[in-house]
Amino acid sequence: DIGAALGTVAEPGIDEAELEELDERVAEAHERIAAGRGDDEFGYAALNLPERTDADAIREAVSPVSDAEYVLTVGIGGSALGAKTITAALAEDPERHVVLDNVDPEHVERTLSDLPLSETAVNVVSKSGTTAETLANFLVVRDVYEYRDVDWTERTVVTTGESGPLRELADEEDLPTLPVPDGVPGRFSALSSVGLVPPAILGVDIEELLAGGADAADGLGPSLFETPAYAYGAVAYALEERGAAVNAFMPYAERLEVFAEWFAQLWAESLGKEGRGQTPARALGATDQHSQLQLYRAGPRDKVVTVVRPRERADVPVPDAGHESLSYLAGTDLGELLDAEYDATVASLSAADRPAVEIEIDSLDARSLGELLYATEAACVLVGELAGVETFTQPAVEWGKRAARGLLSGEDTEETRTVDERPSYL
Ligand code: PA5
Repeated sequence: DIGAALGTVAEPGIDEAELEELDERVAEAHERIAAGRGDDEFGYAALNLPERTDADAIREAVSPVSDAEYVLTVGIGGSALGAKTITAALAEDPERHVVLDNVDPEHVERTLSDLPLSETAVNVVSKSGTTAETLANFLVVRDVYEYRDVDWTERTVVTTGESGPLRELADEEDLPTLPVPDGVPGRFSALSSVGLVPPAILGVDIEELLAGGADAADGLGPSLFETPAYAYGAVAYALEERGAAVNAFMPYAERLEVFAEWFAQLWAESLGKEGRGQTPARALGATDQHSQLQLYRAGPRDKVVTVVRPRERADVPVPDAGHESLSYLAGTDLGELLDAEYDATVASLSAADRPAVEIEIDSLDARSLGELLYATEAACVLVGELAGVETFTQPAVEWGKRAARGLLSGEDTEETRTVDERPSYL
């Protein structure tokens, strides 16, 4: 159960009367979303994943590598961040999930030199099967396995579409493959084979994650006052309309730090269109209370801060040192302190008339995380509907992919010409 979003009265702020007015538009948007889900339309189909994803097929595909000590994901953007978010939040030992998304040669070299390859499962993911970073990294990984005389074909699982170079490579070697669900953009695919292979190998309860997503799906209704996901989306939209151009996403849980990265991708790639869209900023409570909070409280009035916390935390008592100056800590525990920091942040923003939105989940377990992932996606889809943008496309990202491929192949294309002709003032 996710706590309702709170819009504080602040500048820019939003009060309940405005939300009541907005609720009619939320009802229309909900109808559109429900119709899109009903027809499995491109993008809207993502909101059907909890009931469509076949957890058994994922478990079967990973069974040859289920005893792997490490999982190496080779993918980028939506093809890596969902899995990284889930394992960071839920795996007992998240260090066992290593992600090669970037193609920084030093990083790739260092990552591979540290990995015990014979105990590592390779999880290659690309919806299009054409992304240069993923293909290049996969070819390098294969080569390193061969150089060290370790059979990579026995340890590799591929998730990709029905055609494309990655599909061809997988077919050539007869590798186990999982499908990318139809009509689901990468950043909306965490609750599918795209996001669930590493968690399945690392012992996460993927069925519970999907059940959490299904709970949130069942809770989608026509009013923002009864649908926390829409409450968040509607408040974020209304604040953006009133000048909150930045959405600082600040979980108060280390295990949700990567969730903020995932949120940043979802929000930026889905909503950054037609000259609008909130710029997501990644923050972590309480760490960034000691840095970014200064700006959020006293800088330009162009932000909303979203804070997230689990209601239950582990018990780690703070020992009583017997010092009078530390008596305020005696008898407390670290979770209590972190909650006090959270409350202080919200209060300090409100006192300065800066909007903050609170999201609470029951505890940081698979069910709540599934619910949070789904609800955040639904919030994003709602914002897209209200703003009238094409939430599910990413033309700027695709432009960059074509340009990079063109530059490497030496082709003369519109993109490569733009790169060659870019202005320089030096
Ligand atoms: O959300 C998206 O569409 C992107 O972030 C993609 O996931 C990313 O560009 C990777 O694409 P692909 O899965 O085709 O390799």
